[in-house]
Amino acid sequence: MAEIRFDGRVAIVTGAGGGLGRSHSLLLAKRGAKVVVNDRGGSVDGSGQGQNAADKVVDEIKAAGGEAVANYDSVDTSEGAQRIVATAKNAFGKLDILINNAGILRDVSFAKMTDEDWDKVLKVHLYGTMNVSKAAWPLLREGNYGRIVNTTSAAGLYGNFGQANYSAAKLGIVGLTRTLAHEGQKYNIKSNAIAPVAKSRMTETILPPPVLEKLQPERVSPVVAFLCAENLEESGNVYAVGGGYVSRVAIVEGQGVMFQGDTLSPEQVFERWKQVNDLGAARPFANAMEAAAAAMKGAMG
Ligand code: NAI
Repeated sequence: MAEIRFDGRVAIVTGAGGGLGRSHSLLLAKRGAKVVVNDRGGSVDGSGQGQNAADKVVDEIKAAGGEAVANYDSVDTSEGAQRIVATAKNAFGKLDILINNAGILRDVSFAKMTDEDWDKVLKVHLYGTMNVSKAAWPLLREGNYGRIVNTTSAAGLYGNFGQANYSAAKLGIVGLTRTLAHEGQKYNIKSNAIAPVAKSRMTETILPPPVLEKLQPERVSPVVAFLCAENLEESGNVYAVGGGYVSRVAIVEGQGVMFQGDTLSPEQVFERWKQVNDLGAARPFANAMEAAAAAMKGAMG
């Protein structure tokens, strides 16, 4: 097949000063995109800030012959998001691709989690993804083109000890991704999400070094780039990506049980509970109406 390229396309990558965002930016730029490298700097827990991280990646892109500008705003406010999008518009005149990747961690058990731990993580991940997408939306609609790739996590999809804040934010991103896919459809805006696993400062204290070496961010970014391709068909999907593994992840619903009659008792539920829980013939639904229709179809006989 022909090489997938982004010549003439303008991309924003948030949190692109290191880890996955840096790798996404380098690949998009290498394939011809003009890239806004956004990063507010600071530590994994969201404290501190600085310009070095974004500047370094811009320098790397330029040294490789690509085009990029830095932006140091935080995604966690709508004003910051507006400035990130304005950077793309002012430097390159438009916007085609948005990679929402910025993230922080405040891992702590639910019992010990403070309101601040909750707020900060929701603000950067869920609000951050919404803020930048919202600021970008008019530009994407105007151009009748958009490729949005959001960043969720296995923690959000499946839950993880000590990550109540992070997992809530990350699954919220899935809902946002899917609704933007529906609303963007008539404007050729495709919205998908990845659930990555990669070596970065977020994971280097959690995973053993030999495993980390197999999980380079460069093995995730090609999937992100593919999700930004011109002829991409999918929208509203989630992909688990890491170490060379790539798989679609979906929320599915079993065939369920349709209880007949107008009344339903807890005992009747108990009697068919095994079947209620059976995911053997589970299927994903394209949208909420399709899901509701499955129940209505049963109810109407
Ligand atoms: P990282 O810590 O290297 O990258 C995150 C970047 O976001 C940092 O450079 C940070 O400065 C920036 N950032 C933080 N708050 C920001 C804000 N308010 N505004 C702008 N930039 C901000 O970590 P990594 O692993 O590259 O993470 C990238 C994304 O992937 C995150 O959303 C993370 O939750 C997600 N992820 C990563 C996994 C992994 O295995 N590395 C697993 C699952 C999800």
